Amino acid sequence: MAAQDADKQNLIDQEEVIRHRMVTVEIAGKTYQVPEGITVIKALWYTGQDQIRGIGCLGGFCGACATYYRTKDDPKVKTCLACQTAVQDGMSFSMVPPFPARKAIYQMAELKDPKQDLFNLYPEAPLCRNCNACTEACPQTIDVREGVWRAVFGDFKAVSEMFMDCVMCGLCAPVCIADIAPNLVALYASRAQGAHFAEKPLRLTQRIKEIEEGRYEAEWDRILKMNEQQLKEACAELK
Ligand code: FES
Repeated sequence: MAAQDADKQNLIDQEEVIRHRMVTVEIAGKTYQVPEGITVIKALWYTGQDQIRGIGCLGGFCGACATYYRTKDDPKVKTCLACQTAVQDGMSFSMVPPFPARKAIYQMAELKDPKQDLFNLYPEAPLCRNCNACTEACPQTIDVREGVWRAVFGDFKAVSEMFMDCVMCGLCAPVCIADIAPNLVALYASRAQGAHFAEKPLRLTQRIKEIEEGRYEAEWDRILKMNEQQLKEACAELK
C-alpha cells in the first residue's frame, strides 16, 4: 500500500512538472532543464544539488544565497539572491562561496569616539575610488558607494537608514578595488549609531515601537506552541 501511495505521488509530481513549461539553464557550467518560474535556489535543488535545511531563510533576509548570473543575450554578469530570483530560459548561474573579508573586532560599548574609531578599525574605508562596483553588485539596490562615503564623513545616521535592507550577502566586498568590505563598514556605522547616538534609524524605531506595543506577541505565542511537525509544516508553507 505504501509503495502504491509512493507511485501515485510520483505520478502527481511528474504531472505537475509536465504542466510547467521547462526552460534551459546552465548551473556552474552544466546544462539542465528546469520548470519555468521557479527560483534559482529551487532550480539548484531540482537539479540534484544538496538541500541543507536550517542555513537559509528563503525569504530574502539572511543573505546566504548570493549568486552570480547572466542572462541569454547580455554578456554582463549580475548578482542576485537565489531565493528571490526566478530562472529564465538561457540563464547561467553559480552560487557565490563566502568571501574572506576582514571583519574588525571591537567592543562597541567600549569605543570612546566611534566616528574616529572607524579609521582604526577599517582604515581602508577612505580609500574608496568611486568605481561604483559595490553599488552595481548590491542585490538590494542600496547605494553602497554613497554609504561608504557617508560613513567616512561620520554621517552614521544616514548609513544606518541606507543599509536597513542590507542582508550581509557580501557581494559588495569582492568587487571592491580598494579592498573595502562595504557591508562590514556599514554594519559598524549602524551599530555605532544605535549604541552611541540618540537618533535611531526611523524604520528601526518603528519596529521597536511595534514590538513594545505587542504587535507580534500573538504570532510568537502561536509559534512557541507548535510541536516539531507543525513547525516543519509551517516552514514548508513558506517555501
Ligand atoms: S536564503 Fe536567505 S536571503 Fe536567500
